[in-house]
Amino acid sequence: MLGLPGKGVASTSMDVFQALVSLVTCLHYCTLHKVVCLQVRVERTNVEVQHGEAVLLPCSFVTTAVPSRLNIIWTTTPLSEPSSPSQVIVYDQGQAIESPTLTGRVRFVSAPLSADILLNMTRLSDAGKYRCVVSNPPESGSPGIAELSLTVLAPPSSPHCFVSGNMDEGGSISLTCFVEYGVPVPDLNWSKIKPDKIFLPVNMEDSLRGTVQIFNVSSQTSGLYQCTVSNRLGTEICSVELIIHSTPHGTSGILQSIFVTLTMALILLTLLALVLWLHRSGYDRTNRSGQREEEEPCYNEIRYRSNLLRRSFV
Ligand SMILES: *[C@@H]1O[C@H](CO)[C@@H](O)[C@H](O)[C@H]1NC(C)=O
Ligand SMILES: *[C@@H]1O[C@H](CO)[C@@H](O)[C@H](O)[C@H]1NC(C)=O
Repeated sequence: MLGLPGKGVASTSMDVFQALVSLVTCLHYCTLHKVVCLQVRVERTNVEVQHGEAVLLPCSFVTTAVPSRLNIIWTTTPLSEPSSPSQVIVYDQGQAIESPTLTGRVRFVSAPLSADILLNMTRLSDAGKYRCVVSNPPESGSPGIAELSLTVLAPPSSPHCFVSGNMDEGGSISLTCFVEYGVPVPDLNWSKIKPDKIFLPVNMEDSLRGTVQIFNVSSQTSGLYQCTVSNRLGTEICSVELIIHSTPHGTSGILQSIFVTLTMALILLTLLALVLWLHRSGYDRTNRSGQREEEEPCYNEIRYRSNLLRRSFV
């Protein structure tokens, strides 16, 4: 897609009309002062393009001299680095020289007829002021400079949602939503979407970060919360699930169950000890009587003897 700077037939004819008026004015001025002059202008001072697409940066000039020594210089002052203007592309002696940082992304569309350039595969960092300087010696510019600003539009990036604070009952928490980029700056909204739908008041920490404060949380605070970031190019969401446990009751419940478990363990241990003791004394008694039975000598001796007898017979 090519972001052409057309605004409809009416404005185009207005542009042509203005260009003609300028030319006439210029020629009049030039004739009056007996100098040759060149005029540069842009049809639009604000150009928009969607991130990644190609855009035409318009710059036209009117000259009466042969463009044999035509010189065009495009420079940019990026929004991200306002203090360091840099060169974009130069046209000199019939040759175009693009800046090494833009190789393959920028070219003149119809030089030497116009100074229009095409910037392809636009990046967010391309946004900024662009200046087109044209000279065609021996003509002097009147003015020889035109400026426009480029906006690179982008849908919001995927936002990040997170929770901080005290999630215990009665505590305070904050829900934070952060989006890295989006042009125009995305609108940011927080809402609870489950089990009930509630829009929440957002406190913007900066243009890309919004928080929601929830005080004195209870089990009713639990649910699914969603952050929506949107601009005219798109919408993105992230969500967090809050589960608030009823902690005060929970603590006493845990203590209670620990107490009950300990008591039961104690009772069981007592019972076990009792059973062991009873078993042991019972065993002792039967053991003692068993020993007494074994102490009867007759059976063993008789058996032993009979065995011996049997063996001697064999
Ligand atoms: C932009 O660059 C891509 C990849 O090099 C190319 O396919 C496309 O035709 C270019 N667009 C324009 C308008 O030149
Ligand atoms: C916190 O909420 C509970 C009920 O959810 C309420 O009884 C209590 O008064 C609240 N405390 C404060 C400080 O607002």
